[in-house]
Amino acid sequence: MRTEQPKVIYLKDYQAPEYLIDETNLTFELYEDHSLVHAQLVIRRNPERAAGDSGAGLPPLVLDGQQLELLSLAMDDRVLGEGDYQLDDSHLTLQPVSSQFTLDSTVRIHPESNTALEGLYKSGTMFCTQCEAEGFRKITYYLDRPDVMSTFTTTITAEQHRYPVLLSNGNPMASGAEEGGRHWATWQDPFKKPAYLFALVAGDLWCVEDTFTTMNQREVALRIYVEPENIDKVQHAMDSLKKSMRWDEEVYGREYDLDIFMIVAVNDFNMGAMENKGLNIFNSSCVLAKAETATDAAHQRVEAVVAHEYFHNWSGNRVTCRDWFQLSLKEGFTVFRDAEFSADMNSRTVKRIEDVAFLRTNQFAEDAGPMAHPVRPDSFMEISNFYTLTVYEKGAEVVRMIHTLLGAEGFRKGTDLYFERHDGQAVTCDDFVKAMEDANGVELTQFKRWYSQSGTPRLQVEESYDAQAKTYSLTFRQSCPATPGQKEKAPFVIPLALGLLDGKGNELPLRLQGEGAAQGVGRVLALTEAEQCFTFVDIPERPLPSLLRGFSAPVKLSFPYSRDQLMFLMQHDSDGFNRWEAGQQLSVQVLQELIAQHQKGEPLVLDSRLVKAFDTLLGDESLDQAMVAEMLSLPSEAYLTEISEVADVEAIHAAREFARVTIGEALYQPLLARYRANRALSRETGYIAEAAHIARRTLQNIALSYLMQSGKAEALEACLEQFNDCDNMTERLSALAVLVNSAFEQAKADALQRFAEYFKDDPLVMDQWFSVQAGCGLPGGLERVQELMKHPAFTLKNPNKVRALIGAFANQNLVNFHRADGAGYRFLADHVIALNALNPQIASRQLTPLTRWRKYDTSRQQLMKAELERILASGELSSDVYEIVSKSLA
Ligand code: ARG
Ligand code: ZN
Repeated sequence: MRTEQPKVIYLKDYQAPEYLIDETNLTFELYEDHSLVHAQLVIRRNPERAAGDSGAGLPPLVLDGQQLELLSLAMDDRVLGEGDYQLDDSHLTLQPVSSQFTLDSTVRIHPESNTALEGLYKSGTMFCTQCEAEGFRKITYYLDRPDVMSTFTTTITAEQHRYPVLLSNGNPMASGAEEGGRHWATWQDPFKKPAYLFALVAGDLWCVEDTFTTMNQREVALRIYVEPENIDKVQHAMDSLKKSMRWDEEVYGREYDLDIFMIVAVNDFNMGAMENKGLNIFNSSCVLAKAETATDAAHQRVEAVVAHEYFHNWSGNRVTCRDWFQLSLKEGFTVFRDAEFSADMNSRTVKRIEDVAFLRTNQFAEDAGPMAHPVRPDSFMEISNFYTLTVYEKGAEVVRMIHTLLGAEGFRKGTDLYFERHDGQAVTCDDFVKAMEDANGVELTQFKRWYSQSGTPRLQVEESYDAQAKTYSLTFRQSCPATPGQKEKAPFVIPLALGLLDGKGNELPLRLQGEGAAQGVGRVLALTEAEQCFTFVDIPERPLPSLLRGFSAPVKLSFPYSRDQLMFLMQHDSDGFNRWEAGQQLSVQVLQELIAQHQKGEPLVLDSRLVKAFDTLLGDESLDQAMVAEMLSLPSEAYLTEISEVADVEAIHAAREFARVTIGEALYQPLLARYRANRALSRETGYIAEAAHIARRTLQNIALSYLMQSGKAEALEACLEQFNDCDNMTERLSALAVLVNSAFEQAKADALQRFAEYFKDDPLVMDQWFSVQAGCGLPGGLERVQELMKHPAFTLKNPNKVRALIGAFANQNLVNFHRADGAGYRFLADHVIALNALNPQIASRQLTPLTRWRKYDTSRQQLMKAELERILASGELSSDVYEIVSKSLA
């Protein structure tokens, strides 16, 4: 907590550390009312910084440390007294007398009252840690920066009975009993690592064990630790882990390096999971999954997060970041890796659709708001605020573009060189790009603007066809709106994947003017100029272009497609992603027309072409059901908000709901037929967590949600049958969600009550129960959420609960959150203020919807800003909350 303004830290001020730590020996004594941490650090002067040392003497050693009670300090066995060092609330400064020495310290800390969930803390009865980015300084005095890499030996002592399992990074070395019912264990991690990858766990945990044989025939022990009641929900994560290990060998040639790999599930966790060396710590929501309690989406999330954290062992741990401005070096790359893994394990096109929809809705909004920042930021106040969609998701798009430009083989050459060249080092985004350049003999200087320039580029496309000359030209104009601190932008390198379709929907061979022969159908153009024209020759008829296939660059593309052309692309484009995209664009056009009608007070009339397109999709049995489900899903209210100049909350909601009702009624029969066929198969096979079955259930549940729009008793009956008689959470939760959003009050109340009664002891299922209600767009949403906050299963201290109720309300229930009197904003601000004192990271994350105030009408803008002002004036703000609020008001 702070009263004065937090300091801004700049990338341009980076300097290598004055001292290095070669060895870190830690001993933890864990007790119920405090813990003791003994640290023995083998420190030496950084030779890189030692050039002019002799005359001037050694510089002071400045260690990071927060909320630590220093009990003793010794340098090379000389006990230091108060005159020998300076302490402030975040540093310990002392004067070394030789360039190599050992520092011994003992501090007292209080994990039992650590509600920020950073450093060492308790989740339920277990001790655990979260050190990224700057949490290790809450454990002991240290050089808490990623370019200081050390080996770690960790001994933990604790009461045997309460904490039978004692874990840390690396390999188990020794353990034993102590008097007084206590025991100890020592772990050693031979790989040098920064402190942010340190981890410790102590608790009463059970584990599922397995083994993995690596490509070089080494056997690795795999263990997933959970609280005993969750032991039946671990198999899916274990399967995902083994698949990830194999995939990283096959696709990147990366082998696991320790003899043991462990995952621990904890209930109270700020983020999804953490890649600590050999000891990943996970939010239980990203590990635990079984058919009865977790949806298909939850199963897929577990698979993706397990892979993500595992992949960090190379992209993050073996090669780490020099400083936190380089965060995307590991996160963008690792998100790209996990996305490709999920694409290989499931449907590639569907994975891409989901990721692009997410990026365009959420990252584009970030890029358009007050927190817009480059993939490699230039400055920050609080690094925790930069674990953003830009660093992660846009960072992954940047890596994907390199992959697109170099091709799979060239990209692999680049990663091979990167891992070989930098193994054991802390490096920068420039080093990553350099490895790509050197391995491929290419230059990516202009491309690197993607790392330094913020904002979402716009790409306008114009066409012209010359029937006489049989040439077809596309003119591309790129621009990028101003973002905080960046008025002007230079042109980006935009890989533009495209194809041209003839009147029958066939791909035309592509030959650019000046090329000798056609280079096949479909290709990638590299746009580099603000304006650029490409002319294709031998084009016998006016073609229809399919542009930005697979979303080959994170830009806002505009091309004046007619609705008929979009319907044509929906059916004929050979690129699955662009078939979906054509459908989205058609839906957007139709919905925007409804929004305009609503604003003018005219009756709403849905363009029947959308209904016809959906009818065709439903009628085509040959289509992939997952694709049909994606294509039948209308763009979300959040996406419609993002693409609006000024978002009209009520009109967007009314238009989308009207479209859903109209479609549900017009296509009632084909939807019912699909629903019944798929539901019958679900009953027949029981739950199977495989792609084809997931696709079938997704389509079944979309159909059900449209059918319920009709309000027919027959639909309700189907919904209740599914809710009552299914064997899995995917079907049960979908049925519950459509009931909650319906007008069948009695059935809804019964279902909610029975669900909560049955699952009351399963916190992750209760999170879903909260979320479904928090997201319900029917009138009275705020009052329902306020009532739910009083439910015994709710607590502000658990981040998953905060996200499930407050987060779902503010992010997924736009019509209620943005109600015109500002009560939704007041509610959110009240809880941000309460959370600021408990858990600054969670408080700051919950603020996001208020940072988007520029999107709304002036009355809402005033109300949102007033709440931001109120937060700013509410007392001592954490640096996390202060940074977001002050930047939002700037
Ligand atoms: N590195 C973790 C990951 O795999 C996330 C850690 C987030 N920590 C934080 N303080 N925000 O993405
Ligand atoms: Zn990560």
